Amino acid sequence: MIDRVVEPVAGQSSLIIKHKNLKQWVGEVAALCTPDRIHWCDGSQEEYQMMLRLMVHGGTAVALNAEKRPNSILVRSSPADVARVEDQTYICSKTREEAGPTNNWEDPESMKARLKELFSGSMAGRTMFVVPYSMGPIGSPISKIGVEISDSPYVVANMHIMARVGAKVLDVMGADGEFVKGLHSVGAPLRPDDQDSAWPCNAQNKYICHFPETREIWSFGSGYGGNALLGKKCHALRIASAQARDEGWLAEHMLILKLTSPEGEVKYVTGAFPSACGKTNLAMLIPTVAGWKVETIGDDIAWMKFGPDGRLYAINPEAGFFGVAPGTGMKSNPNAIRTLSRNSIFTNCAISPEGDVWWEGMTEEKPAKLLDWLRRRWNPQSNRKAAHPNARFTVPARQCPSIAPEWEDPKGVPIDAILFGGRRATTVPLVVESFNWQHGTFLGAITSSETTAAAAGKVGQLRHDPMAMLPFCGYNMGDYFAHWFEMGKTAGARLPKIYYVNWFRQDDKGNFLWPGFGENSRVLKWIFQRCSGKVGAEETPIGRVPKAGDLDVSGLDMPEQSLNQLLAVDSAAWLAEIPLINKFFARFGDHLPEALTQEVKDLEERLRAK
Ligand code: GTP
Ligand code: SPV
Ligand code: MN
Repeated sequence: MIDRVVEPVAGQSSLIIKHKNLKQWVGEVAALCTPDRIHWCDGSQEEYQMMLRLMVHGGTAVALNAEKRPNSILVRSSPADVARVEDQTYICSKTREEAGPTNNWEDPESMKARLKELFSGSMAGRTMFVVPYSMGPIGSPISKIGVEISDSPYVVANMHIMARVGAKVLDVMGADGEFVKGLHSVGAPLRPDDQDSAWPCNAQNKYICHFPETREIWSFGSGYGGNALLGKKCHALRIASAQARDEGWLAEHMLILKLTSPEGEVKYVTGAFPSACGKTNLAMLIPTVAGWKVETIGDDIAWMKFGPDGRLYAINPEAGFFGVAPGTGMKSNPNAIRTLSRNSIFTNCAISPEGDVWWEGMTEEKPAKLLDWLRRRWNPQSNRKAAHPNARFTVPARQCPSIAPEWEDPKGVPIDAILFGGRRATTVPLVVESFNWQHGTFLGAITSSETTAAAAGKVGQLRHDPMAMLPFCGYNMGDYFAHWFEMGKTAGARLPKIYYVNWFRQDDKGNFLWPGFGENSRVLKWIFQRCSGKVGAEETPIGRVPKAGDLDVSGLDMPEQSLNQLLAVDSAAWLAEIPLINKFFARFGDHLPEALTQEVKDLEERLRAK
């Protein structure tokens, strides 16, 4: 029953909603959530400023010093809402089997019933914002449309940066265009005399639910990052991965970069590393090897489709970066620091008396005085971190000094190499080249990584995270592996080469063996030259690694022994991984492709023969 009139609010007369289904859905949601007002988002600058003002007035945000950081704010969330909640993230497909063993599953009907109860009246006292968005450049054949309904101005402001939003998207939708329905509420209704909290959320009930069959998202209780900005992980990965399986393409948790050699030759590389494992940094790196250049296409998500020439073309569906703040400094990632000079939203960082933000790793020297992310006084002697480990920045991609001119090219960029990687203190070498697509898919499938602060839960726990998609695959991961193999069999395909990398090897004292960041360009150079057949490699049981002299280490101040350790293949350590891989693969039962079983056997055989 629609018991409310759903029309644009006063002053928005320019927005005419032609889409009947959209109008009807908004009416139904309004009837369920009972907001005080409905605001159809037009995507304008004025609207963005209005969101910032709403947050500042509500105590959610403070404006930063306009001289140091123009048009930027700092937001501090509730300690009960600081990261993605994987335990409360669900794939509600018709059967448990379709969600697979790595996803939380609930029957769609019963989950909807529970959600309807939670959403009932959940927006009382608040404004309900309707945000039409495009993932990917407006009008590109690869782009997809969604509409997020949310009661959070923080979400609206972030969506303005992270996606293309507003009237131009309504135009593309026309009267009957397809769209993904995303419903989001912070789950904190207000009674008439209630004082709103600075960061409304629902600490007891958080549900991030996906309905892949009907292409719907219902997210309740959290206002943070991937839980709440529904275009990102929920749509562009979980829903899109299911769509990609049906339609024969790939929706991946990958950065996209452009690499230019001193001779002016160009190659495009994607890389899948788990959350907080180095995608943004790699996408923006400044090479330490002379004459090489890296430019940025995307830092988190890639949608890839075969072009008519048989090559795999990637677009970045996002328009901004929602990046990890801690560790981002002039030394590690100067391009990110320059990107953040203006028009940025900072979340859970510390603030200085001068009204600027700070986080661990921004500068070598710690500021004398700060307010930490929990608004407590802080100084360098304080026995705690000033910024939350998952503090984030939101910033338009076009502000990035290293952004590639073609980053919004609707046809995408042709990919030459795909990297998989994770955080591994031991065992996994700096770089390994796969023998072929099937073996490369296997290396992606056996990737494991230590957990980070990007998700609620313990940090530093080693877990399998295939293709960095463990938290983001919208269907049975066994079928997802099969889909990768199917992609490799596409007629006429000219497939990218696949690599397995690890920037995070440690010595026995816990120090990183590899300097990482800009020095990762040495590995990119080797990969580039492998793709054009210009550099050697050594065959090992796990794949091909650079032999002495193949990797450009000129000017790198590093003991030879460390380098040897980084490139060594420790057969005993790898043999010890085999039972863990088998155990992980066994979880998929008969959804596990035979090719993976075969690859483990072959790997074991090669290791034993050595
Ligand atoms: P999400 O946005 O969560 O998907 O993360 P991401 O994969 O983009 O990771 P990001 O580049 O933001 O890096 C996360 C953390 O790892 C930061 O604190 C970085 O400073 C650190 N980091 C990134 N690259 C390297 C590297 O090459 N070596 C080392 N030691 N640390 C790195
Ligand atoms: C990740 O966790 O991989 C992120 C951050 O990119 S969030 O958008 O919160 O998922
Ligand atoms: Mn990510």
